[in-house]
Amino acid sequence: MFLFFVIALLSLSYLWLRHRYSYWERRGVKGPKPIFIFGNLFKQLTFQEHISVAHKRWHNTYNDVPYVGFYKLLQPAVMIRDPELQREVLVKSFMNFHTNDVSVPDEDVLLKANPFFSSGEEWRQSRALFGTFFSANKIRSVFPAMLKVGTEWEQYVRSFKPNSAIDAKNICSRFTTETMLRCTFSIDGKSFQEESEFLDMGKLVFSPDFITALKLMVNFFVPVLQKFIKVSTVPKVMEKRFMDIVRNQIKIRDSGSVQCEDVLQFVLNGREKYEMSEIQIAGICVGFFVEAYETSANVLSSALYQLAKHPHIQDELARRIQESLDANNNEITYDLIYKHEYLEKVALECMRIQPTFFGIQKLCTKAYQMPILPGQTEPVTIPAGTPVLVPFATVQQDPEHHNDPDFFNPERFSPEQKAQRHKSAFMPFSDGPRMCIGMHLAMFNYKMGLFQMIRNFDIKFHPSHKPFQLHPMSFFNISKDGIKLIFTPRKTV
Ligand code: HEM
Repeated sequence: MFLFFVIALLSLSYLWLRHRYSYWERRGVKGPKPIFIFGNLFKQLTFQEHISVAHKRWHNTYNDVPYVGFYKLLQPAVMIRDPELQREVLVKSFMNFHTNDVSVPDEDVLLKANPFFSSGEEWRQSRALFGTFFSANKIRSVFPAMLKVGTEWEQYVRSFKPNSAIDAKNICSRFTTETMLRCTFSIDGKSFQEESEFLDMGKLVFSPDFITALKLMVNFFVPVLQKFIKVSTVPKVMEKRFMDIVRNQIKIRDSGSVQCEDVLQFVLNGREKYEMSEIQIAGICVGFFVEAYETSANVLSSALYQLAKHPHIQDELARRIQESLDANNNEITYDLIYKHEYLEKVALECMRIQPTFFGIQKLCTKAYQMPILPGQTEPVTIPAGTPVLVPFATVQQDPEHHNDPDFFNPERFSPEQKAQRHKSAFMPFSDGPRMCIGMHLAMFNYKMGLFQMIRNFDIKFHPSHKPFQLHPMSFFNISKDGIKLIFTPRKTV
């Protein structure tokens, strides 16, 4: 009898799974074949393949349709191929897709204050709060602190023995960690010393080891599992340390003994107006740390990799930087970096040719009618709750939108060439009402890092450098074997 029940149960489960996995086929939507239970994420959940590799494969395989159907475990999901449809999801039909398909447990109190993880009215409020503190004016006022860090960073890189192998990610993380600490709290995080407390803390959130990878995998790729497994992204030790810093700094500033121009001060100035709790204040600061530290370090280190790979562009950038300095009495100013056209073009082309972020995952919040596909008699309406993946990294490497996409060419970002392509064919900071709040700050800091390194050093690959292969355990598109470079001080440009 028992055996009969087991067999009946297994048979019914099998039939149900088969039916489930024919969801897209029954609706005439193309997509990769799922594997039982894992859907289309088997290689990702077993850390055999980076998610970006799968996105690119699906994007290239189903190249005659604007969107593809796939399965996140058992859940039917959509991947958008077409930039116009991506724009539709992110901008024009925002009200149907206003929530990110990501989840953090309630215990992650600091991360919860970050708009990225909230939705509805909670998102609107935290976005408004965050937005106040990252305007262009605010960046200008933290520029002196950034410049100081840039100079210390340059001296740190100079301190290495000639021809030694320098890990690009490591030095870039030191730069972005220190910049963020000075700009947020005006504290010296000592990130250019061998042992660095804050550098170690940053690694706890994003380092590509098994446990961290598993946590991020659940939060970002199968958030539905969050209901069963509570996994904190911000480790308790980091939460406690940041709460201590914030409490301590509030005490110092309330006593009136110091005057600071930093993110914490901007936040404190609006404390009463926005009725912010200590947790919210700390949340904004931790959000800033987590967002700024890792994304910016990855973008910067991957740009150094690209410039080592394309020495003629590197030399041209160095020459143009020197030219601009000569014309500015050798003084590095906010405007010099902000308005440097060639620096901007190189920075953007590095982000295009080697995206460090796969894209963004939204959740359909209100049923939405998709465009009709070849062979369909009527269009599919996706119900609320359907995950919708917008992998902008695939579009920015598609020859349909970027001619000869593997060719490194900063001139793609000339006003003429930009005007010729679809607005959404390149959007590393996403688009629409939820687009990255820190974009201006991130771009400025990134260009500042490039400016300092390329102006001062000739950068080449170290003989121990291995070809770039995506790390299957990293949430970001980083190299499995790191990026090993040699920095030789430039004499003349
Ligand atoms: C080069 C570095 C960076 C890149 C490539 C980047 C990219 C992105 C992307 C793709 C999103 C998702 C947008 C969406 O949901 O549609 C995002 C969101 C966000 N980013 Fe960034 N980011 C960077 C740096 C920063 C920095 C330095 C900050 C710090 C202030 C920041 C703050 C945020 C916030 C708060 C959100 C959530 C916005 C919301 O959901 O309303 N980012 N970023």
